[in-house]
Amino acid sequence: MSGSNDHIGEQARRYGTATIGEAVARLREGGLVAVPTETVYGLAADSTNAAAVAEIYRTKGRPDFNPLIVHAADLDSARTLGQFGDLATRFAEALWPGPLTLVVPRNENCPVAAAVTAGLDTIALRCPAHPVMRELLMESGLFLAAPSANRSGGISPTTADHVERSLGDSAPLILDGGACETGIESTIVAVDNGNYRILRPGPVTQAELEQIAGKPPTIADAGKIEAPGQLASHYAPEKPLRLNAAAAEDDEYHIGFGPIAGNRNLSPHSDLAEAASLLFAALHDADASGKARIAVAPIPDNGIGVALNDRLRRAATPV
Ligand code: TXA
Ligand code: MG
Repeated sequence: MSGSNDHIGEQARRYGTATIGEAVARLREGGLVAVPTETVYGLAADSTNAAAVAEIYRTKGRPDFNPLIVHAADLDSARTLGQFGDLATRFAEALWPGPLTLVVPRNENCPVAAAVTAGLDTIALRCPAHPVMRELLMESGLFLAAPSANRSGGISPTTADHVERSLGDSAPLILDGGACETGIESTIVAVDNGNYRILRPGPVTQAELEQIAGKPPTIADAGKIEAPGQLASHYAPEKPLRLNAAAAEDDEYHIGFGPIAGNRNLSPHSDLAEAASLLFAALHDADASGKARIAVAPIPDNGIGVALNDRLRRAATPV
């Protein structure tokens, strides 16, 4: 593109041990890059390169019936991959860039590899807000498939260190953008025929969606697993987890909330957004602690608390 100094400056910008230029080169070769988003770190690859996408599934140990989210720089480019009717357009215009994934019908000429959508005729699209991820999308000009950068079923990573710990020797080049601000995976909303369903609760709350749509969501069919993030056991720490624990046993690492102090408190002032940003880090710490089990204080089930409790319930469900 331009040969201006500005452009060279962008490419050379360093995040931890890697630069954007190195990350772009790796992606263009079909390699993987771990990249920060405002929700969690993603394990990114060129979504149009089938071999690169296969490498994501291999690295995560992810079942290949579980499709991936494709990240786009903006709504206009997302439209080249999927069909945005009125309602999907309204959601995207109101909430992108941000922690909302829209599942829409896949375009017939969509260049994304079939493995990304696991053979479905829909595609999950998100325009992320994190400046490093945005820089990578813009500099590469690619559509990036990126699941959370952890071993399948494990706790999502909210720091570069979590990525390394979870993927070990398989960890790819990592762009280190510090701790993720939102800290919990995007809300996933399927939109079809003017109706919408929440497939995964997240940082964008049902109340926000209702306000934009002017109507409530239809109920997702519980018997049908559309987003495998809906599997009963997911996001799980290595140790047994006990919920709604006002007090802890001697062998439990206690994650507190509000007035329940715990070994580590998610938010002494009972701020649910703060708690969401720290939840996965607290679970990682609890796993690494000397205690055999984990207990978590009650979390109010409103706003983003719905997503927190969703992740906690799955984390507490034995595989
Ligand atoms: O915040 C996030 O969404 C993070 C960051 C990296 O963007 N990504 C993330 O990806 O959480 P992952 O792979 O851990 O979760 C993607 C979810 C899965 O539950 C998958 O089943 C669902 O999206 N999904 C993907 N494509 C779908 C589709 N066409 N229909 C229904 N669900 C889909
Ligand atoms: Mg995940």
